[in-house]
Amino acid sequence: MASPEFRIERAGPGDLRELHELEVKCFGKDAYSKATLRFLLTDSRCISFKAVMDDGSLAGFIIGRLENIGGKTVGRIYTINVDPRFRRMGIAKALMKKIEAEFAAWGCVEIILEVAVDNRPALELYRSLGFKFTRLLKDYYGPGRHAYEAKKLLSESIIRSR
Ligand SMILES: CC(C)(COP(=O)(O)OP(=O)(O)OC[C@H]1O[C@@H](n2cnc3c(N)ncnc32)[C@H](O)[C@@H]1OP(=O)(O)O)[C@@H](O)C(=O)NCCC(=O)NCCS
Repeated sequence: MASPEFRIERAGPGDLRELHELEVKCFGKDAYSKATLRFLLTDSRCISFKAVMDDGSLAGFIIGRLENIGGKTVGRIYTINVDPRFRRMGIAKALMKKIEAEFAAWGCVEIILEVAVDNRPALELYRSLGFKFTRLLKDYYGPGRHAYEAKKLLSESIIRSR
């Protein structure tokens, strides 16, 4: 049987309820609140994509934001989630590549994110996409819950081809 197909589309405020449900499914008590997601989905500096299965089910989403750090435009990933039913199908990789291209088109020189030190699926995902773990952020998610800061330089070739 052929594996199910998915497509990547822009996400917006109209997706808030579904996206928040998936955020809670993936992060539990650490999920962003509905109010924070609403802000991110409406902020003009944010970029949001969702992955939709061919039967219309929401499979995942990503939200990033254009930020100015030290005079450089940087793309920061705020959240990425894939429904457990649809994992290991390449959906997170496709969402990351899509937002990476969009960040490059906006002139970002770098992508930056934070990831829990014990989140192996996410660590492997970012490693496979060429991120470097640049800093340990102690107690980032609360006492004893450390994170790595991860960064990826956007190559000259991506920036030139925009
Ligand atoms: C992390 C997450 C987004 C990955 O989503 P996914 O769609 O299953 O990932 P992909 O199928 O695109 O995987 C791409 C690569 O990431 C790595 N990877 C993903 N899941 C992995 C796992 N469980 N164990 C080891 N490596 C994994 C692999 O290198 C994989 O490539 P491969 O399948 O060819 O080996 C998903 O597990 C998730 O939503 N987790 C909960 C939310 C979360 O932790 N978000 C990240 C916060 S920083």
